[in-house]
Amino acid sequence: MNARKLIDHVDSVDSFKRYGRVNKVVGLMIESQGPESSIGDVCYIHVGSRVKRKIMAEVVGFKDSNVILMPYTATHNISPGSLVETTSKPLEIKTGQALIGKVVDSLGRPLDGSPVPKGLASAPTDQDPPNPLSRPPISEPIEVGVTMIDSLLTVGKGQRVGIFAGSGVGKSTLMGMIARNTTADLNVIGLIGERGREVREFIERDLGTEGLKRSIVVVATSDQPALMRIKGALTATAIAEYFRDKGLNVMLMMDSVTRVAMAQREVGLAIGEPPTTKGYTPSVFAVLSRLLERTGTNIAGSITAFYTVLVDGDDMNEPIADTVRGILDGHFVLDRDLANKGQYPAVNVLKSISRIMNNIVDEKHRQAAERLRDYLGTYLKSEDLINIGAYKKGTSKEIDEAILLYPEIIRFLKQGTEEKVSMPESIEKLLGLTSRG
Ligand SMILES: Nc1ncnc2c1ncn2[C@@H]1O[C@H](COP(=O)(O)OP(=O)(O)OP(=O)(O)O)[C@@H](O)[C@H]1O
Ligand SMILES: [Mg+2]
Repeated sequence: MNARKLIDHVDSVDSFKRYGRVNKVVGLMIESQGPESSIGDVCYIHVGSRVKRKIMAEVVGFKDSNVILMPYTATHNISPGSLVETTSKPLEIKTGQALIGKVVDSLGRPLDGSPVPKGLASAPTDQDPPNPLSRPPISEPIEVGVTMIDSLLTVGKGQRVGIFAGSGVGKSTLMGMIARNTTADLNVIGLIGERGREVREFIERDLGTEGLKRSIVVVATSDQPALMRIKGALTATAIAEYFRDKGLNVMLMMDSVTRVAMAQREVGLAIGEPPTTKGYTPSVFAVLSRLLERTGTNIAGSITAFYTVLVDGDDMNEPIADTVRGILDGHFVLDRDLANKGQYPAVNVLKSISRIMNNIVDEKHRQAAERLRDYLGTYLKSEDLINIGAYKKGTSKEIDEAILLYPEIIRFLKQGTEEKVSMPESIEKLLGLTSRG
């Protein structure tokens, strides 16, 4: 029996190493004659005459009978005729418990140069999203420890939310707060396309040692080749999937999904895809929806996900923002006007929505949240009049109530970065605030 198995195994093993030769390099695009391979396969390009090195690259397309590769690292030392060896496999990373508390690169290697911890499992970075029919519906809230979110924009276990914001309005700070305060079992944080300095700031200041202890951070900085930046997003997702399959409730935060789209645009343009709106190629939208569909619930556990999207000014109709908003089950808008006023977290409650909230909170909570939105909306509609003193008290009962409650509402919405508030506390505050008036 065992001998039979062995023979079967030997039969199925590909005993040939497949090689090709580089014949053209344009920018980051490498063309080679051979090896026989499929899209997504990882190859090694052997370079250097005296000091031999291998450059990791991936098959991204074909042209006539040539293979088109893109490198994971810089393309120094590649010369005509360099040997290309295929692994005949797509990229895999190592993941597991021992990675918790670590900062790794797109290939899952610790950034501090320490060896990859022992006892990890292999996982392909690209995986199919769970079958939609096997996904349990989202039925319970998850606490993020930020009052305005837990009370007014309640997020469900396995919900996926976009955080739409311009630069410098508090994305990183908010992500750090969520990572430290949430009751999720662990955080996986993908930092894609940021500058090196920002990465360090996030880890040391926003996340802090306390946050890092319950997180795995995957980093692909802006100076890395486009393919590495895309892999960063895939690797972070694959790590989250590993823990979801173990039955855990994982919190995934990706900053930013816009930079992932930009990296895919670079790859798409390099291999000759036609540009569409804003130069984004069709594959950008395909890659984005596949990536965002991988999170959420599956039979074993859940991945609650926050994806940041960069929006210039208030342009929510920019192609990436528009696509992401269509796929996800909610969007939070960070508002520069609020940040300028020092009202942090600068989430504009009236422009933001959690599409799952009404299915997962009780009726009292839902009504209170609605009432608070009404007060806030009423106040803001008349704010100009109120500020110039043109509003006369007694003209409208609603406006009078809104004016009365406004300072308290603002105090309720504001939260210092070090402040941790539990979900029951936040809901209680909301109920207290809206039962007056
Ligand atoms: N909850 C908060 N309380 C007080 N200040 C805050 C809060 N959140 C953000 N800030 C202020 O806003 C600044 C910018 O925040 P942050 O770095 O998180 O923004 P960002 O959107 O990540 O920026 P970038 O686009 O540069 O990545 C912080 O340095 C801090 O001063
Ligand atoms: Mg930031």
